[in-house]
Amino acid sequence: MGRLDNKVAIVTGGAGGMGASHVRRFVQEGAKVVIADLAEDPGNALASELGGQAAYMKLDVSDAASWENLVKETEEKFGPINILVNNAGISIPGNTQETPFEEYQKTIKINQDGVFLGMQYVYPSMKKANGGSIINISSSAGINSSPNTSAYTASKFAVRGMTKAAALDFAPDNIRVNSVHPGLIQTPMAEDEETKKVMDALKENVPLKRLATPEEVTNLVLFLASDEASYCNASEFIIDGGMLAQL
Ligand SMILES: NC(=O)c1ccc[n+]([C@@H]2O[C@H](COP(=O)([O-])OP(=O)(O)OC[C@H]3O[C@@H](n4cnc5c(N)ncnc54)[C@H](O)[C@@H]3O)[C@@H](O)[C@H]2O)c1
Repeated sequence: MGRLDNKVAIVTGGAGGMGASHVRRFVQEGAKVVIADLAEDPGNALASELGGQAAYMKLDVSDAASWENLVKETEEKFGPINILVNNAGISIPGNTQETPFEEYQKTIKINQDGVFLGMQYVYPSMKKANGGSIINISSSAGINSSPNTSAYTASKFAVRGMTKAAALDFAPDNIRVNSVHPGLIQTPMAEDEETKKVMDALKENVPLKRLATPEEVTNLVLFLASDEASYCNASEFIIDGGMLAQL
């Protein structure tokens, strides 16, 4: 028996990085999973690798019409939605003095507005399913900041706050909402030259002295998605090898 048998899940940014790891594991655990991502080629490739339990659907998380369409198509294909992982995000390093406003707004649109829209558009479907679990992927930068992460920090603090607000709004409908705060994780995002510089500086502060694999974060996301986490709500789950304790 799988830990997500009979569940329908959407993973945004599911075509790559940590999102793809969540998708793979959710399918192994019995869920039907929509890979919701802007990137069509890797999304389709992952869906065909996983067979009939997974489907790729194009989504721009920052666009309301795109969400409306995604929820409709997901319900038509798999039924009402039980699990939403708001995972899609971007990281453009930059300090407060010099970050161009357009770049700041782009980060907010994807990382912050994208999470708000996801929760709002999926809510009616989860209500139909008599409950659900929403996992919002914030960051260690949603708990504490570091230099050159102005827009990213703003967006990830917002995700942490929105999570609590939505958890209170959705609790009467048996929908749990929690945030996950990864530290340094080995994904394509971590390989971008500028992001790598920020991460290399931070790595010194990780007591476990290494980056995490995406699969280590998936273990936590899977727990929160499953009924095992039935009393976890409105909370923040840090997975950072102890980094924040030492900053
Ligand atoms: N990698 C890390 O160290 C780290 C640490 C803390 C938090 N995070 C957060 O975890 C999440 C996943 O990070 P990752 O490292 O796997 O990233 P990644 O860059 O490897 O993958 C992100 C995925 O999101 C998709 N995406 C980007 N913009 C989109 C949009 N507008 N609509 C839909 N899809 C979009 C991309 O196509 C890609 O598949 C992000 O929210 C990130 O901020 C990452």
